[in-house]
Amino acid sequence: MKHVRDLFKTPTPVLRVPERKDGADIWELVRACKPLDENSMYCNLLQCDHFRDTCVVAELDGKVVGWVSAYVLPYDPQTLFVWQVAVSSDARGCGLGSLMLNHLIGRDACEDVTRLQTTITSDNQASWSLFRRFASQRDANVDVQAYFTQALHFRERHETEHMMTIQLEEQLRKAA
Ligand SMILES: CC(C)(COP(=O)(O)OP(=O)(O)OC[C@H]1O[C@@H](n2cnc3c(N)ncnc32)[C@H](O)[C@@H]1OP(=O)(O)O)[C@@H](O)C(=O)NCCC(=O)NCCS
Repeated sequence: MKHVRDLFKTPTPVLRVPERKDGADIWELVRACKPLDENSMYCNLLQCDHFRDTCVVAELDGKVVGWVSAYVLPYDPQTLFVWQVAVSSDARGCGLGSLMLNHLIGRDACEDVTRLQTTITSDNQASWSLFRRFASQRDANVDVQAYFTQALHFRERHETEHMMTIQLEEQLRKAA
């Protein structure tokens, strides 16, 4: 059987809106992508259904190799919150994470979005790199603040999640 990385060089993954039938594959992918929190399969099904316009599936040769879950904040239509980004270990380091973020921000559902937010624990280097790269490609201002804290919000069950806010310049976002 061909390795995903070997396939990646010629056919690029297809990026698309998820469907309900993708939920179980996405659940498996997220489980395999440590240190992501594992959600219930039901949560992934809801993301694929209710939040499909702001979620991205990357498919390569019929296999789900990438996933972004995100939503526009219910109380702020200008802010896109990125919940999780997952790339199958075989497909990492090829730019797929960046490709999915750029694809997402170009969707019609993100037309009014002027800032992207995500939360990251201090030790998740891959995630910091991914989002800092996304921001630097746009020369965007970045703000980072402790948001869900270990002691107060997580009652010591989880490390502090830092909120990263990336201000998007309108013309650059449209050009993405
Ligand atoms: C984070 C993740 C989505 C990145 O996916 P990817 O397709 O490999 O990312 P890209 O190839 O687009 O790389 C984007 C940037 O991140 C950097 N990067 C990727 N993996 C990295 C790692 N393990 N450590 C440090 N930097 C890393 C890349 O070098 C690149 O930066 P550069 O252009 O300045 O070199 C992937 O590693 C993953 O699924 N990790 C497990 C789950 C996770 O932690 N998700 C993020 C939390 S939401």
